[in-house]
Amino acid sequence: MAKAKTAYVCNDCGADFPRWMGQCSECKAWNTISEVRLAAAPSRSARDGYAGATQAQVQTLASVDLSELPRFSSGFNEFDRVLGGGIVPGSATLIGGNPGAGKSTLLLQTMCHMANTMGALYVTGEESLQQVAMRAKRLHLPTDKLKMLSETNVETICQLALKEQPKIMVVDSIQVMHMADIQSAPGSVSQVRESAAYLTRFAKQHQIAILMVGHVTKDGSLAGPKVLEHCVDCSVLLDGSADSRYRTLRGHKNRFGAVNELGIFAMTGQGLKEVSNPSAIFLSRAEEHAAGSVVMVIWEGTRPLLVELQALVDTSPLGNPRRVAVGLDQNRLNMLLAVMHRHGGLQMSDQDVFVNVVGGVRVAETSADLTLLLALVSSFKNRVIPEQTVVFGEVGLSGEIRPVPNGLERITEAAKHGFTRAIVPYGNKPKQVIEGMEVHAVKTLAEALELL
Ligand code: TYD
Ligand code: MG
Repeated sequence: MAKAKTAYVCNDCGADFPRWMGQCSECKAWNTISEVRLAAAPSRSARDGYAGATQAQVQTLASVDLSELPRFSSGFNEFDRVLGGGIVPGSATLIGGNPGAGKSTLLLQTMCHMANTMGALYVTGEESLQQVAMRAKRLHLPTDKLKMLSETNVETICQLALKEQPKIMVVDSIQVMHMADIQSAPGSVSQVRESAAYLTRFAKQHQIAILMVGHVTKDGSLAGPKVLEHCVDCSVLLDGSADSRYRTLRGHKNRFGAVNELGIFAMTGQGLKEVSNPSAIFLSRAEEHAAGSVVMVIWEGTRPLLVELQALVDTSPLGNPRRVAVGLDQNRLNMLLAVMHRHGGLQMSDQDVFVNVVGGVRVAETSADLTLLLALVSSFKNRVIPEQTVVFGEVGLSGEIRPVPNGLERITEAAKHGFTRAIVPYGNKPKQVIEGMEVHAVKTLAEALELL
């Protein structure tokens, strides 16, 4: 029998080392290296019999077949869009998310739909078959075509899958899967890594698209080694706070398409429903509009999204005032406060500053800069910004307001939702008049502050 090999792998970055170390020399993390027992390498004779190894041939790039990848539709437009147009046959996709985010629900709905047109196998290692069946019944899903399997051994799963020949297979979840060759507990680095690699190879060899569920740790990264993300073709994250019924699906890696798309779902009594026109779902329709609250238009993938931003500026009882940003980058907040002091003439160094993006949305775009500053001023001076106003624009260090991409689309989207006044960068000033919308194009922060 071939000798089982061991390697030492960093749980954070996935780097391999020949021996154990206290600190990973690649990513500098401490105590993240653990021993991994690799599955025994196949013997020479077994390798020679492996068709893929002997039939590979070299060809020029021009002679590669360029026909479009066919794709399977998941039945959810939002899901398809995040994956770049659907599920690619023979691909391996990882779906991460907090417990209770709805990964199992999403996949069950998807698979019941897909089973109508192709062979589909749902492998559950976490829930009993009965639990899954009860959920499917409660959600009124068509259950007669979907094949189910309750199993956690990867080799057994693949053997059975070979017999069933599904076109698509779900493995829920990768953290409970194990391989017989590896002597460590399911969920450990070596088990997760080897199981995922085995399943990915299996998907490629037999043209079975595999969707794997992966759990995430508290800080939002996928539990287990980073190599998990390296070995799959696509990795998407289903995200949602427990108090909101909305779930967002975002691509983190996609070998077949872009990763900037955001899919939005709502968790309802009948499972997940896609939200196909989400641009205004994050607006709170408060009875009374308060100071410190401003609506911005952010750009998500290919769509605009109207989101409310709230700021609270209050005299600090502490010597060291607090700066808290939820949904926004803290460093950006500090930087903008400095710009405000220098170019807006407003001193907030003795004030606690809290900012929050409503609805648990995370904004990574710079177009929120101007919105944030105006919200701060509004709260600081206790002056309400009229409800029907939207604001966006990037703020530079010298107080200039810089244009952002897709300005016109953002303004028209806001107009569609009944907004009547927009404060935008001068570079985004629309050439034609937009009906019902009064556009103020500003060049500097001082000009914007004058408008308040
Ligand atoms: P689940 O898919 O089990 O989450 P995951 O597999 O990501 O851990 O989803 C569980 C949550 O979804 C649970 O807290 C209840 C909620 N839920 C609904 O609100 N409505 C439904 O129809 C279903 C099936 C679940
Ligand atoms: Mg689950």
